[in-house]
Amino acid sequence: MTDLLTLNPLTPLRETVRRPLYTETTSSQALFLPIAPPTLGTAGAVIGRELYSGKAFIYCPFCAFGDGLPGGNMIVLGDTGRGKSALVKTYTARQIRLGRKVVVLDTKEQKEREEGEWAALCRSLTGRAPVKFSPGGDHTRGAACINPMDPAIAGKRQIELVRTIVELGLGKALDEFAGSALRIAIRQAHQRASADGRTPVLADVAAALRSPDPADAAAKKRTREELLGDGLEASYVLDRLCGTDQDATGDLIGMLDGPTSLSVDLDADMIVFDLTKVPSGGVAMTILVAVISIFLEEVWLRPACECGTGPSDHERRVVDAKSGAWELGANPASKCLRYTQRKRILVCEEAWHILGTPQLAALLEKFLKFARGYGLSCIFIVHHLSDIDDSPETQAALKMADTVVVYSMKKSEAEDTVKRLGLPAWTAEHIMRLRRGVALWKVGEVIYPGVQHLLTEAETHLCFSSGSMSDLTPSTPDHE
Ligand SMILES: Nc1ncnc2c1ncn2[C@@H]1O[C@H](COP(=O)(O)OP(=O)(O)OP(=O)(O)O)[C@@H](O)[C@H]1O
Ligand SMILES: [Mg+2]
Repeated sequence: MTDLLTLNPLTPLRETVRRPLYTETTSSQALFLPIAPPTLGTAGAVIGRELYSGKAFIYCPFCAFGDGLPGGNMIVLGDTGRGKSALVKTYTARQIRLGRKVVVLDTKEQKEREEGEWAALCRSLTGRAPVKFSPGGDHTRGAACINPMDPAIAGKRQIELVRTIVELGLGKALDEFAGSALRIAIRQAHQRASADGRTPVLADVAAALRSPDPADAAAKKRTREELLGDGLEASYVLDRLCGTDQDATGDLIGMLDGPTSLSVDLDADMIVFDLTKVPSGGVAMTILVAVISIFLEEVWLRPACECGTGPSDHERRVVDAKSGAWELGANPASKCLRYTQRKRILVCEEAWHILGTPQLAALLEKFLKFARGYGLSCIFIVHHLSDIDDSPETQAALKMADTVVVYSMKKSEAEDTVKRLGLPAWTAEHIMRLRRGVALWKVGEVIYPGVQHLLTEAETHLCFSSGSMSDLTPSTPDHE
């Protein structure tokens, strides 16, 4: 008793420090249950179970969207081999069963299979192979090509995109003169190609930069030579993408220099862009991701109802006669009773390529900001936040993640992650102790300390990524 009286009740160590939750004993489960955070509801994709309460863990950013979850973007972090990809693979497959459409940027090769990690899942879900890009790719042999000059990309966006490509290739921003020369060349490329009755390609822009029209120069109060000088450097960058008759060794040739050849059904449940042959961390990857993201925004993300028809196919229904407010109602042709925006998920594997490049992060930030309006949820998978640079663009993109999933990490990385994400201090030690397949989830402001991801047997085969590290066990018949 005297001991108790002499105790300072507010000694921080005794009263305010929470012991980390890393046991799974029955007593900790029993204690956790009454204080466990509320479940995220019963609608959505089953992830597995919450270890400390034993409750099922069901997550869906579209169902949980609202006060608690302001947006659908997610970042998944953790050391290698902890189960990040397996989680996102099964989660997206389970979301597809709820009618969602998924696009994946797959940058991780499974060496023993010579294809991206998502290929098996993509084939099993859609019966189709991933869309594969490879530098120097031969379009006739199935290598994919996206044309930044594709008419599917709206005029202003196209100018923005070609400019981004040139700036990424140059590694610096274009000045006013060069920017203006590029805009003129894009217009010229469209005019010249339409006169020939074909779709313009980037080589047309390079050619237009090298042969400016004197009338365009005069309109800008420049001589033809001055206009040529303004755009010459940009034309060199485009040569690296397209090649010329004299030089076909550009590092980007074969991926962006022809008409769009995507052998892809944009309505497929899952589209995987296989970027595993594109050198990682290089300018080719950066440019390709920029083009794919704008292409997706312009083409894949067009508003559509879950019944497959567009908004204009649905009747307008006035919901308030006084103000005239209306919403989209039925489409008698498709027997759909109400317009419901089709939900989509974009997955970026090894997303440090994207988040680590300020120009791409800025591009993505725009994407993320408007994700809510598109009915889109973006998922980024990275190892550690320290893989990503600290530029304001990246930080802004990171802030857009409303759900954070953290798998086990080493001490320094765990401490850094906790600090950068503003998680409570006790979570650092907890994160270090998480087993494979178990993660800390932060959904909006609510923390779920131990979510175990459960895989079915079929999913285990589709998610198996350890082939190169596994050995045959002596009991395996093949081994005998
Ligand atoms: N919840 C789980 N239960 C059982 N096995 C799992 C679980 N999660 C992952 N695995 C297995 O662990 C291995 C590694 O998983 P995964 O490829 O998802 O790791 P990762 O975190 O994405 O690694 P990396 O950072 O190297 O890409 C896989 O073979 C997978 O089948
Ligand atoms: Mg992985």
